[in-house]
Amino acid sequence: MTSRFFKSSLLVAITLLFISCRGEKFDHQPVHPNMNMDQQERFEAQEQNRFFADGRGMRMPVEGTVARGNLREDKAFYQGISEDSSFVDEIPVTVNRSFLQRGQKQYETYCTPCHGSTGDGQGIIMVGRYGYVPAPSYHIDRLRNSEDGYIYSTIANGIRNMPAYAHQIDVEDRWAIVAYVRALQRSQYVPENEMQQYDVDLAALDQQYQQAQEEEMARQEAQSGGGGEEISAARGEQIYMQNACQTCHSQDGSDGIGPTHLNIFERTRQLADGSTVTADEEYLRESIVNPNAKIVEGYDPVMAPYSYLSDAEVQSLIEYMKTISDNQ
Ligand code: HEC
Ligand code: HEC
Repeated sequence: MTSRFFKSSLLVAITLLFISCRGEKFDHQPVHPNMNMDQQERFEAQEQNRFFADGRGMRMPVEGTVARGNLREDKAFYQGISEDSSFVDEIPVTVNRSFLQRGQKQYETYCTPCHGSTGDGQGIIMVGRYGYVPAPSYHIDRLRNSEDGYIYSTIANGIRNMPAYAHQIDVEDRWAIVAYVRALQRSQYVPENEMQQYDVDLAALDQQYQQAQEEEMARQEAQSGGGGEEISAARGEQIYMQNACQTCHSQDGSDGIGPTHLNIFERTRQLADGSTVTADEEYLRESIVNPNAKIVEGYDPVMAPYSYLSDAEVQSLIEYMKTISDNQ
C-alpha cells in the first residue's frame, strides 16, 4: 500500500517537474530571500549624472589624493635623488649578500645583452653587430666616480640612446642592480696597494693579461683576413649606418649628441682642454677607436670606443667622412 502510494506520488512529482520547466517568462522577480543590497539605485561606470554641473557620474579624486601605498615620499629610494635634487651618493638600502645576488640575477637578465656580463660594453648586441649604439664600459673613471643615484636614474629613466627600464624592473631590484654594477666595477679595479693585502701574484696576472691581449689581436687579425679587406667610401657609409653613428652625428650640419660630420675633414677642432687640433685622418681614427682621448669642446664624453672595428673598416669610415666634407 505504502509503496504504491509512494510510486504514484513520485510519478506526479516528475510530471510536475517537467511541465513546470517550459522556459516561460515570469512576470515577477525571482525569489531572493537575502537582499544583501543587491538591488539599489546606483550609477554605472561612465554613466551620466545630471546632479553634477559637469554631468559626470564618476568623480575626480580630491586634489592631492594618493592611492594607498603610492605616496613615494622617499625621494632617495624612489628617484635616487636627495632633498637638494642632487643624486644620492650611496644606495639607500642595506646591501647584503642575497641582495647582491638578486642584483646579479636582474643584471644578467636585463643588462647583459648590451653591457656584457663583466660590464665592458661587449654584450651580444655589440659582438653580434646588430647596429645598436655601443654601450660604454663601466670601467672608466667617469662611471666609477658617478653617484649610486646616477646609475639608479640611468636604469629608471634611461639615458640618451639607452631605453628606460622602470616598467620591467621594480625599485628595489634597480638598487640591487646598482649594487651589482658597483661589484663589477670593483672586480676590475682594485688599487695596487690594496691588492698587496691579498695573496695574489700580480706579475703572473699581468703576464696572463698580456697574453690574452695578444691572442685577441691575433684573432682579430685572422678574422679580418690579414688586411685584404676592401677600403672605400661606399663601404664606409654602410659601416657608418650599421654602427649607429648617425644616432649621435648628423651629416647635414645640424647638432646632435655629438658634433655634425658635415665638413669634418681638415677642420680645426676646439677641444675641451683648451687646445686645438686639425681633424686629419689620424685625429678621425683616434676619435673612433679611442674617443675619450680628445674631447670636442661643448660635448659630453659619451661616445663609446668602437674598438671592434678592423683597420680597414675604420679607414672606410674616414673615406666616407671625407665625401661629406668640402676639404677632401
Ligand atoms: C638595449 C641595450 C641596453 C640595455 C639592455 C641596457 N643598456 Fe645601459 N646603455 C646602453 C647604451 C647604448 C648606452 C649609451 C647611451 C648613449 O650614450 O647614448 C648605455 C649607457 C649606460 C650607462 C652609462 C651612462 C653614461 O653616463 O654614459 C649605464 C650606467 C648603464 N647604461 C647601465 C645599464 C644597466 C644597469 C642596465 C640594466 C638594467 C642597462 N644599462 C641596460 C644600452 C643598454
Ligand atoms: C652615443 C653617441 C655617439 C655615437 C653612437 C657615435 N659618436 Fe662620435 N662622438 C660623440 C660625441 C658626444 C662626440 C664629441 C665628444 C668627444 O670628442 O668625444 C663624438 C666625437 C666624434 C668625432 C670627433 C668629432 C669632431 O667634431 O671633432 C668623430 C670623428 C666621431 N665621433 C666619429 C664617430 C663615428 C664614425 C661613429 C660610428 C662608428 C660615432 N662617432 C658614433 C657621440 C657619439
